[in-house]
Amino acid sequence: MAWNKVMPANPVVAIAGATGAVGQEFMQVLHDLDFPASEVRALASARSAGKKIEFAGCGQVPAGELTVQEMTSESFKDVDIALFSCGAGISKEMREAVVASGAVMIDNSSAFRMDADVPLVVPEVNPGDVSWHSGVIANPNCSTIQMVVALKPLYDIAPIKRVVVSTYQAASGGGAPAMEELYGQTKDFLNEDELKVEVFQHRIAFNCIPHIDVFLEDDSTKEEWKMVVETKKIMGDENIAVAATCVRVPVLRCHAESVNVEFTGEVSVEAARKAFEAFEGITLMDDCSSNIYPMPGLLAGTNDTYIGRLRKDSTVEHGLAMWIVADQIRKGAALNAVQIAQLLLP
Ligand SMILES: NC(=O)c1ccc[n+]([C@@H]2O[C@H](COP(=O)([O-])OP(=O)(O)OC[C@H]3O[C@@H](n4cnc5c(N)ncnc54)[C@H](OP(=O)(O)O)[C@@H]3O)[C@@H](O)[C@H]2O)c1
Repeated sequence: MAWNKVMPANPVVAIAGATGAVGQEFMQVLHDLDFPASEVRALASARSAGKKIEFAGCGQVPAGELTVQEMTSESFKDVDIALFSCGAGISKEMREAVVASGAVMIDNSSAFRMDADVPLVVPEVNPGDVSWHSGVIANPNCSTIQMVVALKPLYDIAPIKRVVVSTYQAASGGGAPAMEELYGQTKDFLNEDELKVEVFQHRIAFNCIPHIDVFLEDDSTKEEWKMVVETKKIMGDENIAVAATCVRVPVLRCHAESVNVEFTGEVSVEAARKAFEAFEGITLMDDCSSNIYPMPGLLAGTNDTYIGRLRKDSTVEHGLAMWIVADQIRKGAALNAVQIAQLLLP
């Protein structure tokens, strides 16, 4: 179904999942980018209906409190852009109502990412893909987003053959309850109290868990599979081979990734450095002589994808190794989605 509405210059924006980790960040990013909204609607489950949330304002919406409304299929009347962060099941339930109302759904869940009629967009990499949406645009997985931002300027020098990535993913990737679990377990561990394990499969405090999302038939996890298939779709190249190992670490916020890239032709460290420096959305933080490299503890609340430890990978003919850090609630979720919304503005 073609989407043929004209996006107004001052759209009505709904945030579906406004009380969650990503939802809260949506509000902050709308304010930080001064998104030209004429109205911002906060939606969540019946549990949160009536709750007041502080909003710093954006566009024509003044700073003040927003009252959370229970999300129903009626919530999208007059909405132009619906930013979704409530999980895949709810996105699937609501898709028809959102699209029927004429709004564009920008969805953070994995519900539609690999659907042929849904563009999967990282504005620094494939902004043109927003042009063929039919009412739904998917935001990629947080780990994929920061990796493809780093891969794109290198790919433009020489196509990529193979990527080997290991992730170090923050607890907050599991949402607000997961952050609470890391806090709570850390306190209980230090007090020698019994630890409650509810969100993750194992204790996350003082631990690393090589298991994010469910296991698949080949013993990889779904999170790893997402990095493989989403990278190909966003980069528009089915030939890029990706091997991923995704690990949850006891960090509150910001995912880190160790990435080895093999190219079809020569990409020198110097050429890569120059390409990163010139690329919108990347900050090179790379000076080993002064112990400068990106770290999650430094970068919460930032917008860019940070790259350091850039060096040659001598185990292949044309290879580079690097370390990538980004705030996965901002660039990996809310910021990327609002940047997609900016691409839709007239
Ligand atoms: N956290 C990250 O770093 C990250 C990164 C990329 C993508 N994502 C994706 O973003 C989505 C949300 O993640 P999150 O981390 O923000 O989770 P979260 O903190 O657990 O928040 C979930 C949100 O969904 C709402 N919700 C739950 N059931 C609902 C219902 N029946 N109707 C309406 N709203 C409902 C919740 O409202 P109540 O407060 O009323 O329950 C809350 O606002 C997930 O799909 C996740 O995979 C997350």
